[in-house]
Amino acid sequence: MNEKKEVGEKAVEYVKDGMVVGLGTGSTVFYTITKLGQLVQQGLTIKGVPTSEQTKQLAIELGIPLVAFDEIEQIDVAIDGADEVGPELNLIKGGGGALLREKIIAAAAKTFIVVADSQKNVDTLGTFPLPIEVVPFGYEMTVKHIRKLGGSPKLRQKDGIPYLTDNGNYIIDSSFQEITHPRELEKNLNLIPGVVDNGLFVGMADIVITMKDKKLATIV
Ligand code: 5RP
Repeated sequence: MNEKKEVGEKAVEYVKDGMVVGLGTGSTVFYTITKLGQLVQQGLTIKGVPTSEQTKQLAIELGIPLVAFDEIEQIDVAIDGADEVGPELNLIKGGGGALLREKIIAAAAKTFIVVADSQKNVDTLGTFPLPIEVVPFGYEMTVKHIRKLGGSPKLRQKDGIPYLTDNGNYIIDSSFQEITHPRELEKNLNLIPGVVDNGLFVGMADIVITMKDKKLATIV
């Protein structure tokens, strides 16, 4: 059974004709977007707002019409994956490096739906190293501040050079072992000069579609 496909496709049930839809990034929401593409071919009229250049490309290939921020008041529903889903539906996101655009779009959505296979469910956040988007200037200093907050930060690299986000920034992946106070950590990280945002999504998810005991489960 492909859990990512099951949870990803289930989420399209929340998308109705005429909606503006935030399109997430990653291998789980890929199935949501692909299904939406099929429904668009069959006559569904939606407009998409992509959370990354990769998703933008996918949506274009599938024929999903896109809309710019200045043409909309809000997003009806945003659907995205997660790296960890913890207590109170708090999340770690950004494994794919798209956390900033993902957070902007989730915050603009009336309903934010997370699609996550069973492996993503955790009792305490923090096993997955927290992605933190930082500006390249002085990032060595930014890293020192992250360490002072209890993290073990590492610059994300690709082929031996710093990984660049769609916004031209770096990603620092920082393990914090156990994140027991996510709201506090999210805020404290964002107070560090040089940090643009971090992958803690606290109090943002409205619905999580996941698998429990090999069955689809919707947590509200
Ligand atoms: C990208 C993300 C993804 O949603 C997250 O990494 C989960 O990805 P996947 O569905 O491939 O496991 O936050 O920045």
